[in-house]
Amino acid sequence: MIKKEVVFDRSSYPLLIGRGTLTELAGLLAERTRNRDVLIVYDNYFEASINDKLAASLRAAGFRVLLHPLEGGKVNKNINEALKIYGLLESQDFSRDSTLIAVGGGVVGDLGGFVASTYLRGINLVHVPTTLMAMIDSSLGGKVAINFRKTINAIGSYYHPIINLIDLDFIDALPLRDYRAGLAEAIKCAIIADANFFQFLLGRRVAILKKEEADLLKVIERSIEIKIEHVTGDVHEGGARLKLNYGHTLGHAIEVSTVTEKGDTYRHGEGVALGIMAAVFIARNHLGLTDETAAAQQRIFEQYQLPVSVDSTKIGFDRGVLIKECLRNVKKDKKRKDHAIRMVLVKEIGRSTVYNDVPFALIEQAFQATII
Ligand SMILES: NC(=O)c1ccc[n+]([C@@H]2O[C@H](COP(=O)([O-])OP(=O)(O)OC[C@H]3O[C@@H](n4cnc5c(N)ncnc54)[C@H](O)[C@@H]3O)[C@@H](O)[C@H]2O)c1
Repeated sequence: MIKKEVVFDRSSYPLLIGRGTLTELAGLLAERTRNRDVLIVYDNYFEASINDKLAASLRAAGFRVLLHPLEGGKVNKNINEALKIYGLLESQDFSRDSTLIAVGGGVVGDLGGFVASTYLRGINLVHVPTTLMAMIDSSLGGKVAINFRKTINAIGSYYHPIINLIDLDFIDALPLRDYRAGLAEAIKCAIIADANFFQFLLGRRVAILKKEEADLLKVIERSIEIKIEHVTGDVHEGGARLKLNYGHTLGHAIEVSTVTEKGDTYRHGEGVALGIMAAVFIARNHLGLTDETAAAQQRIFEQYQLPVSVDSTKIGFDRGVLIKECLRNVKKDKKRKDHAIRMVLVKEIGRSTVYNDVPFALIEQAFQATII
């Protein structure tokens, strides 16, 4: 098991990575709080293991444990679900030093974290991320939020947990599509900050896709290090942290524009892969990105079976309407100005730069190239 102390702003907390780390939680929590009230907000996929393992071990350690199951998927990251959890905390007399444990993917972590950050101006939060994406990205760095209407992460804040516990046992059940979507964030980390890690991801692809433990651990550890390096000293995103948004500005727009009544067309990580391909188009046409570096980025996503273009007919959208909708959503982005947007671009693998004035005209061309 790997144990690290994560330090952001003035907060510092333990991060555990390994198999079976869930059994450590009751002991760790008992060391950190005298209050014995705990609410577990969890992805209902884990009904059995939450009841049998986590809740039982917390109860045995003297905690009063309440459970709030949630259906996985972005549809629940909203104010109505937050209100239900506030209601439970209030009706059960939870106080400021009580604890909310969020067990699930980025949806549960963002929603649970948002509620913990706002209830009584902040109660204890523990992250137990269960998707690869949540392990290497969303549970670290303090961003918590809910979606509002069609705007992703519209209402949120920054809030760090008192414990972050990564248990690799969860990865066993994770469907390959969600696993690959998490790997898109690891690939992004490599592209923006570490050419050696990029080569590792290429070279060890077969083992990584088979979830072989040593390789998986390296993917998780290095991605987390890169995330921490970029967030430390810049939690509120004015400098280095912005680079972690590589692929996100245009990727978010594609993600949100392709939601249908049946749900999401793309996972978050798939949106990031598509957003990176659109950013590659911009860098290629306007920064002189070499064909070789552009192709390397496309190739790694293809090798991990992540999308590199949007086939509008296949996903049931009119291409022209979809491009317009993506552009409209980019214009709503937090990083926009009147005529331009701030974007991260990469000219060589392992190094990234923030550009403040990428014109919308160029972004439209990038969507035209990515949405076919
Ligand atoms: N806070 C941040 O910094 C940050 C960063 C990136 C993404 N996000 C947010 O994270 C969310 C996406 O998170 P996600 O990709 O983890 O999606 P998710 O939470 O929706 O999980 C994906 C699916 O996997 C299921 N699942 C979860 N763990 C499982 C497991 N171990 N085995 C089997 N099934 C499992 C869930 O039920 C769900 O159906 C988005 O809302 C995004 O905005 C936040």
